[in-house]
Amino acid sequence: MKNTLIAPSVLSADFGNLQRDIEMINNSEADWFHVDIMDGVFVPNISFGMPVLEAISRHAKKTVDVHLMIVNPDQYIKTFAQLGANNLTVHYEACTHLHRTLQAIRAEGMKAGVALNPHTNVALLEDIINDIDLVCMMSVNPGFGGQSFIERTYSKVKQLKEIITRNGASTLIEIDGGVSDKNAVQLVQAGADVLVAGNYVFRAENPVETISGLKKLTSL
Ligand code: DX5
Ligand code: ZN
Repeated sequence: MKNTLIAPSVLSADFGNLQRDIEMINNSEADWFHVDIMDGVFVPNISFGMPVLEAISRHAKKTVDVHLMIVNPDQYIKTFAQLGANNLTVHYEACTHLHRTLQAIRAEGMKAGVALNPHTNVALLEDIINDIDLVCMMSVNPGFGGQSFIERTYSKVKQLKEIITRNGASTLIEIDGGVSDKNAVQLVQAGADVLVAGNYVFRAENPVETISGLKKLTSL
């Protein structure tokens, strides 16, 4: 049976009750904490920075999966490792020397992730796939929670899965944006391993049940 990983996105949490929401994830069937860092330059929004990430890591009892939506991520790799990131994902579109960046992330003991904007062709990863632990496939334009899922994502996931298989890589495919019970099964059938969910989890009446529902639905 496939164990699909569920990664609630802290961006949709209540920041006035952040510790409560972190404990909710700790006590749920969720697998990872997905943490979005935005700089207002790479994306038209600013989320939160180092002190908030440090607080999340301090309380989190599960993998801390950090998604950087920032320009020049290289200068902060060491800092993010010190702040408790287990996975560090940079955007393909923000890296001139992606191979070097991924090596630097792994050298700090973190898993190296690459995020792709919806317009970026997955074929661009063919020559670097063996150096990537995790591809974060954006299924919305990065910058905000609560947007609608882009349908084209299904075929991109299938194409990426082929690239991973062809190269004998063990890269995980993570889907980020607009994920819910409406698209989760089809995404996993297409090859997704990790589902990020922000609004779907945090706007639910019962987030813990919503997480376990998503987990059950996608354990195919
Ligand atoms: C968007 C972020 C996502 C976001 C997902 O830029 O990368 O992680 O929090 O939120 P939902 O699931 O509400 O689309
Ligand atoms: Zn994200």
